[in-house]
Amino acid sequence: MTIRVLTGIKPTGTPHLGNYVGAIRPAIAASLLPGIESYYFLADYHALSGSADAERVHRSTLEVAATWLALGLDPARVHFYRQSDLPEVTELTWLLSCVTAKGLLNRAHAYKAAVDANIAAGNDADHGIGMGLYLYPVLMAADILLFNAHRVPVGRDQIQHIEIARDLAQRFNHLHGGEYFTLPEAAIEEHTAVLPGLDGRKMSKSYDNVIPLWGSSKTLRDAIYSVVTNSQLPGEPKNPDDSSLFLLYKAFASVEQTAALRQAYADGIAWGEAKRIVHQHIDAELAPARERYQTLVARPQDIELTLREGAERLRPKARVLLDALREAVGLRSLARLAAPVAGAAKAAKKAKLPRFVQFKDSDGRLNFKFMAADGELLLTGVGYADAKASASAMAACARHRR
Ligand code: TRP
Repeated sequence: MTIRVLTGIKPTGTPHLGNYVGAIRPAIAASLLPGIESYYFLADYHALSGSADAERVHRSTLEVAATWLALGLDPARVHFYRQSDLPEVTELTWLLSCVTAKGLLNRAHAYKAAVDANIAAGNDADHGIGMGLYLYPVLMAADILLFNAHRVPVGRDQIQHIEIARDLAQRFNHLHGGEYFTLPEAAIEEHTAVLPGLDGRKMSKSYDNVIPLWGSSKTLRDAIYSVVTNSQLPGEPKNPDDSSLFLLYKAFASVEQTAALRQAYADGIAWGEAKRIVHQHIDAELAPARERYQTLVARPQDIELTLREGAERLRPKARVLLDALREAVGLRSLARLAAPVAGAAKAAKKAKLPRFVQFKDSDGRLNFKFMAADGELLLTGVGYADAKASASAMAACARHRR
């Protein structure tokens, strides 16, 4: 069975080496694996929850999209889109909000941290807290459930959000008596390196110790030369395991290269020489992508098109799900309450209509294909655990064609 893997990237700020090593590089590698349908999107609605800086969101959306494309994400192979290009995301957010217990969101980490900070500062508990922050987990659940993702690769700080998405999926399924949603699972990458920043602490925007991913070879050089080292002299043996410079190198170099630098440390390499080696190595790895990045950023209209096409391809799928959900919650056509007209069913039978072909997926789930009268495949469902969910999706699909 095809596993759907989905993850959102918040466009806030300019990507740095820590983002590359910790998130972007492993995600792009995973997108190339067989048997996986990947969804990568720019979570621009989420970016609004913490900032009113429109220019920053705009610019960062371009930079982040260009970064992923330059580093090898292939929009022909994966779904690459912008959250705000799918109106179904906000529509689903509302339907989910209506099954969300307020108390559940009161316990969400980010909201609770903001409340705790207010109380510590002697302010009103909800001082300065917007509904964007409060509903953040519901919006994120909508991202995930809209495509019934199985797996969601995220950092540890996001695990609670995936749990909330599971909760809401379960609750909706239960309240409306069907398997509308698949329960997603968090996929935590245990082996990715945590890069040290310029000061030796974890590389992070909030510590202001980052090495930007892009820029020139010269700006990269300047940043790497400013990584903190100690005052040991050339010739003195140095400890690689408490050296940020060494850890930085390790995240980019092969096992053999890393062993060679380890040896050079033991042999008393000078800090200046070590910095030269590290810069040269990272620079060589990034140079081709840096060139692609510059080209991409210079043509924002192309990226706009790529993102829009990515969303357009997905909208029919999203629409079918949403229509099934609308049906489930009672947002239905009033015409259906009219008394049936004699002979209407017969007439409909005669007309050449599209039809459904039902089948079982390789994982045993019910599924259907929706075919035009001439046999053209219009749409394939996403797989359903029971007949009721499948029937709702088919009904939605049929209504949509009318
Ligand atoms: N909240 C995530 C972060 O801050 C970004 C995100 C938004 C996301 N929607 C998502 C991640 C859906 C995974 C799935 O990193």
